[in-house]
Amino acid sequence: GAVGPEPFMRSAEALPAIPVEGLTDDPKLWVCFYQGTWVLATVVPGIISIQRSFAPRRGDVVLASPPKSGTTWLKALAFATMARGAYPPADAGHPLLRLNPHQCVPYMESLFTAGKEGAMEALPSPRLMSTHMHHSILPTSITKNPADCKIIYICRDPKDTLVSFWHFVRKVNPNISFSDMFEAACNGTSVCGPIWDHVLGYWNASKASPETVLFLRYEDMLRDPAGNARKLARFVGQPFSPAEEEAGVVAQIVRLCSIEKLKSLEVNNTGSYGSPFANDWYFRRGGTGDWANHMTPDMARRLDAIVEEKLGGSVPLV
Ligand code: A3P
Repeated sequence: GAVGPEPFMRSAEALPAIPVEGLTDDPKLWVCFYQGTWVLATVVPGIISIQRSFAPRRGDVVLASPPKSGTTWLKALAFATMARGAYPPADAGHPLLRLNPHQCVPYMESLFTAGKEGAMEALPSPRLMSTHMHHSILPTSITKNPADCKIIYICRDPKDTLVSFWHFVRKVNPNISFSDMFEAACNGTSVCGPIWDHVLGYWNASKASPETVLFLRYEDMLRDPAGNARKLARFVGQPFSPAEEEAGVVAQIVRLCSIEKLKSLEVNNTGSYGSPFANDWYFRRGGTGDWANHMTPDMARRLDAIVEEKLGGSVPLV
């Protein structure tokens, strides 16, 4: 359940980094249990620091998501939409053509872990940033003063999220077993798990405060990217004008942020933006239903049933 931030020492002492048994021996992917959620051990100092010191500003937008649910896409779309005044989406010099979306929208946990929160302080408003934290462990500075800070959440069918994550983790550890990761997902112990609590926290927040928390689904965005870009633009207070609609700006943004376009760029095929992972790992296949290539129908039914039971039928997730 929701627990407030704990004093630093207590949290640090209570939280040795424990690898999920059998999952991977690579410390980059160790998780530990923090205030009811499973978090990457490497970013625990950042989470504690966010809880202690993050100061939201009016106009801030936080993109929240479970890993592998469309974070990179949402970053590109939100950046292209919010920055379209300075960077028209059809410009040959658009930042998304030379930067990975993760460079355009900083990941708060990494920044605060690295002690670089000053860099975020220095950003002009409106600031755009991202997190994988559960809603229940967000700093009260965000959740208690929601007018200062808006949240855009994206989630995805947990089966596709899991398959996507398995492919990602395999880059780090080629021997990773899908069935181990499947069990972890079912037990709620995968990175940023339990997935149902992650989704439910933001779902409830979006119901309680729809003007400050926008709840998006990857599958809806695939079906109607332009409609969702418009929704996002309205939500952040920058609706597309009739002139922009007329000029096809929405379609330009959707095209610029499409997986085909981003995948074709040199920046997204070379090197790493500074995370322990390579840029091209963030662009694989896209779309829905890859789970069927990796799960038996029984496995799919089992995970669906757990998620459905935990969500109590309230969230249209699968
Ligand atoms: P797959 O592994 O199923 O292909 P995240 O950004 O949260 O890490 O999620 C990564 C998933 O989003 C991957 O899914 C990746 O291919 C997909 N993805 C990345 N960029 C995308 C885009 N612009 N449009 C749609 N899907 C995208």
